[in-house]
Formats: sequence, structure tokens, C-alpha cells
Amino acid sequence: MPTVLVTAGPTREHLDEVRFLTNASTGRMGYAIAAAAHAAGCEVVLVTGPTHLTPPAGVTDVQVVSALEMLAACERALARADIVFGVAAVADHRPRARHAGKPAKNDAPYSLELVPNPDILASLARVKGRRVFVGFSLDAQAADASAQRERARRKLERKGLDLIVVNDSSALGAERSAVTVLDAGGHDYALPPQDKEATAAWLVQLALARWRTRVDEASP
Ligand code: C5P
Repeated sequence: MPTVLVTAGPTREHLDEVRFLTNASTGRMGYAIAAAAHAAGCEVVLVTGPTHLTPPAGVTDVQVVSALEMLAACERALARADIVFGVAAVADHRPRARHAGKPAKNDAPYSLELVPNPDILASLARVKGRRVFVGFSLDAQAADASAQRERARRKLERKGLDLIVVNDSSALGAERSAVTVLDAGGHDYALPPQDKEATAAWLVQLALARWRTRVDEASP
């Protein structure tokens, strides 16, 4: 059975020891994917930002805080990964500087300089081999569902993914979600509204099927 690498949760980008930038991701979808992959018989490495969730039993979890730490942990795990699910809501930016300790409160306005974080999934997908890469796209900007799919398709191409799961922003922290999956061959699959565990099990089976096809095609 293949080894599955999953990124999950938000990242925290510290300004100082106690203050940080983050987002509303709970990690639920990533943890559900990790649990489903383990239940399907895969070895699973879960690289997770800070969440309140307990890692599923049988899964190797690597706890990280920032995007840079998440990237480093994923790079270490990539060599043995066959399928990569990028489910983490990685902060797009981080403060340029991190101050030591907790600087005292100061009432004066100040501006914060932010620098872009690396795109973890795109960076991992540059070393593709036979791996199957699955990304998630949560897009509150798109005007309608078809614009959302178009943007997700461009994202799939830009990041070098095999599959992209399109969610809308109501999925953040929600129990149930309806997703559409796009593949690199131009197909769409719409899943009914269901809980994240059912969606996760379905996505794992789809990624496993893609991986098996790739391995079969590669064998003489
Ligand atoms: O570009 P956008 O943030 O919409 O892409 C979302 C997908 O890319 C998700 O699969 C997410 O885990 C991944 N991603 C990443 N590193 C980033 C930003 C997004 O791995 N810095």
C-alpha cells in the first residue's frame, strides 16, 4: 500500500513570542483524510499546524507551527510519500521579523512588514515522480460556481497537481461540505453534501485509484 503525506490545519506566523497571524482552519478535513487513508491500509504521515484535534490512531503526526516549519517537515517526509494531500490552510504571508519575548504594549500605530510564504504543495510537486498530488481550493472571491471551478483548474495547473478539491468558504470548520473534484485530465466530479469523513473516504479512494493506474502504467 502507498504512503500518504497529509498537511493539515492552519499555520501560525509569529510576530513575537505570544502574538501571531493565523486563520480559521480547524484541521478537520486534513485529519479526516489522514484517518481515511489509514483505514484504507496506507501508512500515513500527518504534518499538522496547531489544532485542537487528536491525531488519528496509527498515523505518524508531525506537529509544526509556521509555514516554513511545515515545508521543512514535508520535505523530510516526501521521499517516502506516494500520495500527497495538501489540506493545510497555510498562511500566505509571515512577518519579515520575529521579535524576541513579548514587546510591551505600545499605543502608537505601527505597520507590519509581511513577506510571502512558500507554496508548500507546489514546491513539493516539483519533485513529482509517480506521486499523486491533491490540493484543496477554497475561493470566496469567485463570482459563481463556474468561475470558482475555472480558478481552481488554473490553480491545479500552476501547482502541478493531479486533483483539486473545490470547496466554498462555508466549509471552514463546518461538519458537512459539498465539494467538486477536478482532475488534470479535464474531468469534474461533484460530490453530494455529506460529512467531511465521507468526503475524505471518497477522496482517498480516488487518489488511490490514480496512484494504482500510474504504477500499473509504469510497470513493464
Ligand atoms: O493558492 P491557494 O492557497 O488557494 O491553494 C490552496 C492549496 O495549496 C491547498 O491544497 C493548500 O494546502 C496548498 N497551499 C500550500 N502552501 C501555501 C498555500 C497553499 O501548500 N503556501
